[in-house]
Amino acid sequence: MFEYKIKFVSNFCKTKEQLCTKYGEKVMSVDIYLNEGIKKVITEFPIIGKILDEFNIGCTTCAEGTCFLKDIVEIHNLEESSEKELMTRISKVIFPDKEVSFPIKKRTKPASKEIKYSPPMKKLVDEHTLIKRWLVLIPKVIEYVDLETDEGLELINKGIDFIRNYADKYHHAKEEEQTFKYFDESLEIIKVIRKDHVKVRAHVKAMLEAIEQKDKEKLAEHLVAYSKILPEHIKKEDEILYPWMDRNLTTTQIGKLYSKFNEIDEEYGDSPAKHLKFIEELERKFC
Ligand SMILES: [Fe+2]
Ligand SMILES: [Fe+2]
Repeated sequence: MFEYKIKFVSNFCKTKEQLCTKYGEKVMSVDIYLNEGIKKVITEFPIIGKILDEFNIGCTTCAEGTCFLKDIVEIHNLEESSEKELMTRISKVIFPDKEVSFPIKKRTKPASKEIKYSPPMKKLVDEHTLIKRWLVLIPKVIEYVDLETDEGLELINKGIDFIRNYADKYHHAKEEEQTFKYFDESLEIIKVIRKDHVKVRAHVKAMLEAIEQKDKEKLAEHLVAYSKILPEHIKKEDEILYPWMDRNLTTTQIGKLYSKFNEIDEEYGDSPAKHLKFIEELERKFC
C-alpha cells in the first residue's frame, strides 16, 4: 500500500534498510520498518511515540502495540495533509539524513474528525455505554461484597451474570460471531481485540473460582484486572475498530449485519433489559 522512495544524499546505510534498484534509480525501501510492530518502532525511536501522541494516535498507551507501522495511518483514518505530515516526521526520525518523498495514499472516503457510526456499529457503541456504567461501579462492589452472606453472594453473582451474559455472550456474539467474520481475522487489529476478549474470559474464570473458594482478595484482584482492560478495549473499538470496519464494509454488508443484530436482540428477549435494571439498581444503591 505504501511505497517510500528515498533519494540518496549520503552513503550512510542502516542495517534495517534494504537497497534495491527500481526504474533505473536507487531506491531505499523501508518495508522492514513499515512491517514492524509499532511498539518495537517506538522502542527503537521513542520520539515516534511522542509524534503519534501529537496526532492523537495512542500507540504509546496501547498494551499490545503489535499493529504494523504501515497500518497505523490506514486504521486511524487521518486527513491527507495530516498523514503526509505524520509520515514525513516519522521518516525524518528513522532516516535523519535522507530526502524522502511520499506517494499519496488513495482514499475511498474522505477522512472526518467526527465519527459517524453505521446503525449496527451504533448498537455496539450503545452496549458499551452500559458496560462502562458497570465498570464505574466495580470499586463499590469490591468494597461492599461479602462472600459469606446471601446478600453479598446475590450481588456478585448478578455482577458475574452481567459480565458473562451481557458483556460477553450478548455483545461479543455480535462482534466475534458476526462483525469480525466480514474481515480477515489474521489482521493485527482483529487479533488485538480478540486477545482482550480472551484475557477478560480468563479473569471471569478466576472470579468464579474465587467465589467458590470464598476468597474475597482473589475476587477483588480479578475484578480490578478486568476493569483495567475494558476501558482501553472499549476505546479501541469505539474510536478505531468500528470506524475502520464501517469504512471497509459495503452498504449491503452493513444492512445484513444490522438484520443479524436485530435477530440476536430478539433471541435474547428481555435479557438486556434485565441487565440494565441490575445496573440501575446498583447505581441507586451506591451512587
Ligand atoms: Fe470487544
Ligand atoms: Fe465491544
